[in-house]
Amino acid sequence: MNIIANIDALRAQIANWRRAGQTIAFVPTMGNLHQGHLQLVDIAKSRADKVLVSIFVNPMQFGQNEDLANYPRTLDADVAALTQHQADAVFTPTPQLMYPRGLEVQTFVEVPQLGDLHCGANRPGHFRGVSTIVCKLFNLVQPDIACFGKKDFQQLAIIRQMVLDLSLPIQIIGVATERASDGLALSSRNGYLTAAERVKAPALFQILQQLKAAIAAGNHDYRALEQQAKAQLTAAGFVPDYVNISNQHSLALAVEAAEPKVVLAAARLGTTRLIDNLEL
Ligand code: PAF
Repeated sequence: MNIIANIDALRAQIANWRRAGQTIAFVPTMGNLHQGHLQLVDIAKSRADKVLVSIFVNPMQFGQNEDLANYPRTLDADVAALTQHQADAVFTPTPQLMYPRGLEVQTFVEVPQLGDLHCGANRPGHFRGVSTIVCKLFNLVQPDIACFGKKDFQQLAIIRQMVLDLSLPIQIIGVATERASDGLALSSRNGYLTAAERVKAPALFQILQQLKAAIAAGNHDYRALEQQAKAQLTAAGFVPDYVNISNQHSLALAVEAAEPKVVLAAARLGTTRLIDNLEL
């Protein structure tokens, strides 16, 4: 596997593949790879001739009091896992390479509305950081397809909208959430949980499943169901940020029984912020 740390080498690799008529799938990540990421790589591999993964802990998407400094960086293990999964290249830029003039003066990409809801309301600037880095990486890699996990449902919706709005010729593939056997959605941040918190953590998914069952049974009082789920989360030891029953496309709060829905949730367990969702 080719490990690429600078932009000239990245462009040379991409040009090489293109000259040979090969299609390119791209998997952007922040590293500390788990089975969810590796599933994205496997799906990318099945859809294109070459797979390029990026590993970049993007400072622009972290708030001031968030975990940028402590975010797990495990490059050697990540490279080993990517080699095993037959990725063709990994791009590992530094913040200096991606933001040479500094974050304060960086041109940005922002997807309005979708980016302001849910996690956007709780983490101002987060999705601006995500859209900006994904757009920059798309411009560098110019892939045919790009794979993202559905665990970050709102992020996926925002990237799809950005690709549409900016006419980027890239097919976006959403991949089902990988879960531990007890239902907890895999996330690099799960590593922050203490042993006691890890035991409690699957309650987030269980509560979303109960909510889904209530809707399937005919309860359409969505706002009351959201409040009930938040109370259940609190009783299970979480501090809920939000539980929102939303339209799958607009992500606005759902009101109609017939519209396609997703339940989106974020809650803190100790110092760890977990997110999860369930399509209905
Ligand atoms: O989902 C992530 O890991 C990140 O938000 C992404 C898409 C790699 C952008 O930094």
